[in-house]
Amino acid sequence: MGNEFGKKVNYLLQQLYDTQDITCDGDALDIGCANGANSIWLAEKGFNVVGIDKILPAEFADHNDVKFLTTSVTDFNFQPDFYSLIIAANILQFLIRSEKYKILASIEKSLKVGGIFICESFTVEDESYKESVKRDSYGSYFELGELEAWAIKCGFEVIFSNEKVVKDNHAPMGEHSHGIVSLIIKKNS
Ligand SMILES: C[S@@+](CC[C@H](N)C(=O)[O-])C[C@H]1O[C@@H](n2cnc3c(N)ncnc32)[C@H](O)[C@@H]1O
Repeated sequence: MGNEFGKKVNYLLQQLYDTQDITCDGDALDIGCANGANSIWLAEKGFNVVGIDKILPAEFADHNDVKFLTTSVTDFNFQPDFYSLIIAANILQFLIRSEKYKILASIEKSLKVGGIFICESFTVEDESYKESVKRDSYGSYFELGELEAWAIKCGFEVIFSNEKVVKDNHAPMGEHSHGIVSLIIKKNS
């Protein structure tokens, strides 16, 4: 087992499903899928799903419903005009800034017209932000409003946008807080 993340379906998926008239077919991509809850949920709803992560549970190699690939998103071949839905939940913060924007551009190109992108990532309100700046290394945090501004600049329709600070509690940090940006956007052209 690689890590403890990805065991719960992201609330943005359920929210999208409950509030929008989406057609659950076509191809979906779950970037940084970890233990695959989002991938499996999407497959159950009817999508053909690829879940990618640097570290995956060994038993995912021959999963019946989802094609899980062990790869870094930075090495993944994004097919243009291909996906109906892409989710990147709590993964982009692990990339350096230039990689993050390269991946966002690949995601934009890889979505079909009408396709949905769901993104959650850390903002500069995250507790770890100041330390990360001091270390000048790990971590890429969105300024407040930055991700939505990128989406609007690319011509996406914003379906849902939210920025908040939430408490969390897991190893190795114990209790801590995250600054989180959450976005559901749609490619209309
Ligand atoms: C915090 S977990 C999020 C898991 C899941 N998406 C969720 O929201 O519960 C981040 C995941 O991203 C993966 N990850 C980090 N850097 C990655 C990269 N460059 N390419 C692919 N996966 C990566 C980690 O292995 C980890 O499983």
